[in-house]
Amino acid sequence: MVRVRITGTGSYLPEKILSNADLEKMVETSDEWITTRTGIRERRVAAAEENTSDLAVNAARKALEMAGAAPEEIGYIVVGTITGDFPWPATACLVQDKLGAKNAFAVDVSAACSGFIYALDSAVKQVQSGAVKKALVIGAEILTRIVDWTDRNTCVLFGDAAGAVVVEASDDESGILSTHLHSDGSYWELLHQPGFGSRHPVSEEALRQKVHCLKMQGNEVFKVAVRSMSDVAEEALAANGLSAGDLKLFIPHQANIRILDAVAKRLKLKQDQVFINVNKYGNTSGATIPVALDEAVQAGRIDKGDLVLLDAFGGGFTWGSILMRW
Ligand SMILES: CC(C)(COP(=O)(O)OP(=O)(O)OC[C@H]1O[C@@H](n2cnc3c(N)ncnc32)[C@H](O)[C@@H]1OP(=O)(O)O)[C@@H](O)C(=O)NCCC(=O)NCCS
Repeated sequence: MVRVRITGTGSYLPEKILSNADLEKMVETSDEWITTRTGIRERRVAAAEENTSDLAVNAARKALEMAGAAPEEIGYIVVGTITGDFPWPATACLVQDKLGAKNAFAVDVSAACSGFIYALDSAVKQVQSGAVKKALVIGAEILTRIVDWTDRNTCVLFGDAAGAVVVEASDDESGILSTHLHSDGSYWELLHQPGFGSRHPVSEEALRQKVHCLKMQGNEVFKVAVRSMSDVAEEALAANGLSAGDLKLFIPHQANIRILDAVAKRLKLKQDQVFINVNKYGNTSGATIPVALDEAVQAGRIDKGDLVLLDAFGGGFTWGSILMRW
């Protein structure tokens, strides 16, 4: 089987920072509550003229540069997002146009916070099958535009960002070793955006009920997230005959520090094995993992040959892990 590896990473964070102190002026909350319950200190907010495809393109350009790949060499562009520029066409098509990646076919993946993992899995399989030589995988979100800024239960948690990777066939031992993806649609209601699909089309009443805003039952999500992320990490390790101690870096979806701590504890990971940046950006859904991966690469925390495990959980519910040798 052809081994597929990541040859470039890139990320983009909008300039504007929204701190917990800023939120204290908007809703009844406190820096102390947000920090102890979530670990989040600040998050980024896209500028009014920025759209999800702009964030995605900025991250993609950096990943292409690191991979030494021209846009025309890309055969497949896949964007994990739930906050694309439009319900359709796919944000991936807008990215293709802006990059001038005229030889790529392009599509979005809707798997909420697991979007990047699902997208990366599909790109790996396209390259493995020989259908494309190089693929561009992006996680990009502007969640601040679907958050209810009067709901303190959710508005403190989310932010905007994009991360990207280029994948192609590997010529050595490095590459993706396994992918494990799962879904359980019976949980859809715990984390979702009610409008404006076929169930709640646009109407004045729907707008009054804020069906365009994200809804979440945080407590319930928390429990299933910890269990699912731990289980799918163990599934990846077992499938490869490895133990948690073999990992150089565990890069989990950055939703909440208490979820990350609980998963790390279950897996018996040491602190320096777990990558954390939720304090700086909050939950950026499909963007958290590619942003974290890029930051880890830039910070020199991953060397050639190291084992890296990506682990995501999100609305749907969807969850999954990808194990790779760097
Ligand atoms: C959202 C979350 C931080 C809430 O923490 P929690 O400890 O479960 O808190 P609860 O929901 O039980 O709320 C406790 C109290 O804090 C209040 N509260 C909620 N948000 C608050 C805020 N931003 N500031 C102050 N108080 C707040 C609630 O209103 C509640 O008050 P009440 O007891 O008077 O009703 C937590 O459930 C969580 O992290 N869930 C997972 C969310 C997530 O990561 N989702 C994405 C997964 S991909």
